[in-house]
Amino acid sequence: MLIEESMKDELSQHTKNILGLKLPTDPRWVNLTAISLEAILTDHAYCEQKAALTCISLIQRYSDRKELVQELAPIVTEEWGHFRLVLAELEKRNLTFGKQRKDEYVNRLLLFQKKGGHIDDRMLDQLLTMALIEARSCERFKRLSEGLKDKYLQSFYRKFMESEAGHYTLFINLADTYLPKEKVRKRWKEWLDYEKEIINDLAVRGDRVH
Ligand SMILES: [Fe+2]
Ligand SMILES: [Fe+2]
Repeated sequence: MLIEESMKDELSQHTKNILGLKLPTDPRWVNLTAISLEAILTDHAYCEQKAALTCISLIQRYSDRKELVQELAPIVTEEWGHFRLVLAELEKRNLTFGKQRKDEYVNRLLLFQKKGGHIDDRMLDQLLTMALIEARSCERFKRLSEGLKDKYLQSFYRKFMESEAGHYTLFINLADTYLPKEKVRKRWKEWLDYEKEIINDLAVRGDRVH
């Protein structure tokens, strides 16, 4: 879903603060991605697949939550559409869709999710994990759309940036639908602090979206 006109101002405000993210991406990252388009497109393709899969799994887990099911059902289609766009880009360029790698960023995020306690708290963490991945992806696509020299690739990544910004908002709104806003904000802040540590720890690599 591309964001609506009315959201565009909000988006530019958001991206100015990089969606609340505590640590901007290392500027060297964009130059590194330019070295192998095959590697970054392959990794991107898997990220889109994982986004679709996670939305399906949230729908299965919380099938009794009507808004969640209704909001996430079209996102599955959209994320799968993103996967197909990236796959088409690889094919168009005669590049190989490579193997899936271990996703250190996502694995580290999963460690922060509450595994026990009330189901609402577990759901909150699962929704905020998705919001965070969307926010960081949006930030990375923004870097690519502004930093790559190729005009076509700039607009290619800009579309993903806009779409993932909309998803970030959607996951936060879903959390607000089911939990008190203050609780969501408080936990979101903890997630942002935790994510900063991950970004700080991970090596800057041009063959990965995160
Ligand atoms: Fe996507
Ligand atoms: Fe997304």
